[in-house]
Amino acid sequence: MNTAGLSLDQAPPLRVPLAFYTLIPVFLALGGGLLAHDGVALLVTGWAPPTMALVHVFTLGVLGAAMWGSMYPLVPVVAGARVPGLALAPAVAAALGLGASALVVGLRFGSPVALLMGGALLALALVAFLGPVGWALGRAPARGATVLGLRLGVLCLAALGGLGLRLALGHTRTEAWPMPDARADLLLVHVGLGLFGWLGGLIAAVAGQVMPMFFLARGPGPAVATGLALAHALPPLAAAVGLGLGWPTPWLLALIGMAAVAAFGVQPVLVLVALARRKRRRPEASLRFFVVSALAAPLALAAGVALARTDYPPAGPLLGWLALAGWALSLVLGMLSRIVPFLLWFHGVSQADEGRGPVPPMKRLWLETEVAGLWWLHSAMLLCGLAAITLTNDLLARATGGLLFGEGVGLALSLRRAVVRARGPG
Ligand code: HEM
Repeated sequence: MNTAGLSLDQAPPLRVPLAFYTLIPVFLALGGGLLAHDGVALLVTGWAPPTMALVHVFTLGVLGAAMWGSMYPLVPVVAGARVPGLALAPAVAAALGLGASALVVGLRFGSPVALLMGGALLALALVAFLGPVGWALGRAPARGATVLGLRLGVLCLAALGGLGLRLALGHTRTEAWPMPDARADLLLVHVGLGLFGWLGGLIAAVAGQVMPMFFLARGPGPAVATGLALAHALPPLAAAVGLGLGWPTPWLLALIGMAAVAAFGVQPVLVLVALARRKRRRPEASLRFFVVSALAAPLALAAGVALARTDYPPAGPLLGWLALAGWALSLVLGMLSRIVPFLLWFHGVSQADEGRGPVPPMKRLWLETEVAGLWWLHSAMLLCGLAAITLTNDLLARATGGLLFGEGVGLALSLRRAVVRARGPG
């Protein structure tokens, strides 16, 4: 494994990322339960609040937990700056989990109280996460595309969080906080900042580290990587400024479209090319997640074009499904299956130096067969969801929910086994 240029001695205690990673299977199972219960009604239009509830099970509970949990080790290790107030991190994870749950309940059942609770908890979580992480990133000595990508990503998260909270208040339907007149534009910028500035920007920045480290695959050179970081974040940030200045919708749409091309068009091609040229040739189950993600991305772009240009009704749900379950979730699962064993092994080695027993090698912490099993389940869930959306089929939608629930259980078991194996026999 190639760890050149990383400050591994600066990594935070293991309980910090694990507090966030524990949320991921819980929310996968919650999303599966919702879909199995509500069926295809959740997959016909993005405008239905229960669909928005399912969307935030993914964006906050699953993807958010993975991204926030990874930022705590990434910032010190890659950027060389310690994140202050680490003792608070488990409380931040709790606020994220509870806030996301309350938002989901509020949107699903139209409950103003749950929406207000969710908004308050998420605002708290955002401040407690963005404050220390943003402070560390601002002072980081390291330069380069990865650090730039992380900085722009947290800026986008701050902006999209503000817009999301305003929209959540609008859903309470109270006189003090009516839904804003420019709701569609606000939503467009919120989604653009979320999918491309935050998720896409971070994925590109982290891939630049993970690919060489775990697969000995050379990422793009510094100029291309810097261009990519800017192409993911600047257009949606400009759209956020334009929103405040009252720019017309087509301008905002054009800006978000530019970032979509970077995230769904350019970045996946670079990943596939890097993987095809990787030095370590042995087949690895986690690689398959990266390939599925890179294949889903251009399909999501096509669905986005169809949504903007045609009246094909499934275009919106297809875009959401391909982007969240196909592109982002596949990548997050692939990365987790490499990062979790690495963190467990690395922390075990540090403790072995302090007198604890030897740590098993990474490949014996999260077994190849378990990663491959999760990939099959994930692929079946993805395809079943695509079929449910295109055929508007209730039975397939509920089956997709069942598979998603199973994926949550499978991931929980693998994570638990990896932690137990890392502790060793004694
Ligand atoms: C920080 C906390 C967040 C809050 C409070 C929040 C709130 C909301 C609300 C209330 C809506 C519905 C808007 C409407 O009805 O017009 C919405 C839509 C949406 N949000 Fe968020 N959001 C948050 C974070 C995120 C993140 C991190 C992402 C993506 C990474 C995201 C992606 C989306 C998407 C894709 C939609 C459209 C859903 C659909 O069309 O069904 N949100 N958000």
